[in-house]
Amino acid sequence: MKATARAHTNIALVKYWGKRDQELILPQTDSLSLTLDPFYTDTTVEIDPTLAADQLSIDGNQVDPSKMGKVERVMDTIRSWSQQNHFARITSTNHVPMSAGLASSASAFAALAAAGAKAYGLQLARRDLSRLARRGSGSATRSIFGGLVQWHRGHDDQSSYAEPIMEKLDFGLEMIAILVDTSAKKVSSRGGMQLTVKTSPFYKAWKEVVQTDMSNMLAAIKDKNINAIGHIAQENALRMHALTLSADPGFTYFDGDTIKAMHLIDDLQAAGINCYYTMDAGPNVKVLYDRRDRSLILQRLGDVFNPDRLVVASAGPGVTYL
Ligand code: PMV
Repeated sequence: MKATARAHTNIALVKYWGKRDQELILPQTDSLSLTLDPFYTDTTVEIDPTLAADQLSIDGNQVDPSKMGKVERVMDTIRSWSQQNHFARITSTNHVPMSAGLASSASAFAALAAAGAKAYGLQLARRDLSRLARRGSGSATRSIFGGLVQWHRGHDDQSSYAEPIMEKLDFGLEMIAILVDTSAKKVSSRGGMQLTVKTSPFYKAWKEVVQTDMSNMLAAIKDKNINAIGHIAQENALRMHALTLSADPGFTYFDGDTIKAMHLIDDLQAAGINCYYTMDAGPNVKVLYDRRDRSLILQRLGDVFNPDRLVVASAGPGVTYL
């Protein structure tokens, strides 16, 4: 009747950018991510037979029912799978600093799927939990698992799920988020994806790029080769962002500080310090590197950006029940 789950957010190293089914959120391509330790969401779902609709509060604020479309999609799926029709009270707390500009939708929908499934008595394997979380947000599919995670594109609902590649990292891959701008993004990831799939002349090439990047990334992970992982992630991110520039109308998630951070990391690379960047549907820059170079890289980034705008994150765990 009542369950609480914790899920961590993730950062894609090979990006998901484009759906082929808007309702089920079936992606155009595979993708691969790193679950992050410091950022997570705790969600409680409690069935209440007296309710006439689901109720949701996020960080203590009641959410307007008209803004609960994605939550309803997950909750309706849980009701259909469990053959129950009661509504629930959902309470969610984000430990993703709102200012971090890190996607909280990944941790939020992974936690909702896990807590909701348990509250309604469903005993789902983690693979099926990832299919459930997928209905809320694509990136949430991967947040069911810890460490490095692959989301298989699949060919239908059953076959589009996430799977861990390495749940406990035994090598030093780490990330620093540079918080260059923390205001809400102007183009949602959903809207941005739809526009690029429809209008970018490069979209067909992107699908081929991802296939190559996925197989190279899997090989680099197997070799625990952080430089190869970082290089592939950086190229993949640049190609994703080239899609937005080539859409009609073209747009970008970058701002001036994004470019400044990219140049700084290029300079560090040229000086022999191994670090790489990746960006999602927003201006913040995430830097990938080997843990043993952390203090040097933090120091160099801190020369240009305010040190309290730099957040270190290592690999985090999959979904847990509290
Ligand atoms: O699933 P969404 O709506 O959070 O979209 C995720 C899009 C990217 O973060 C840019 C890429 C990814 O794979 O997470």
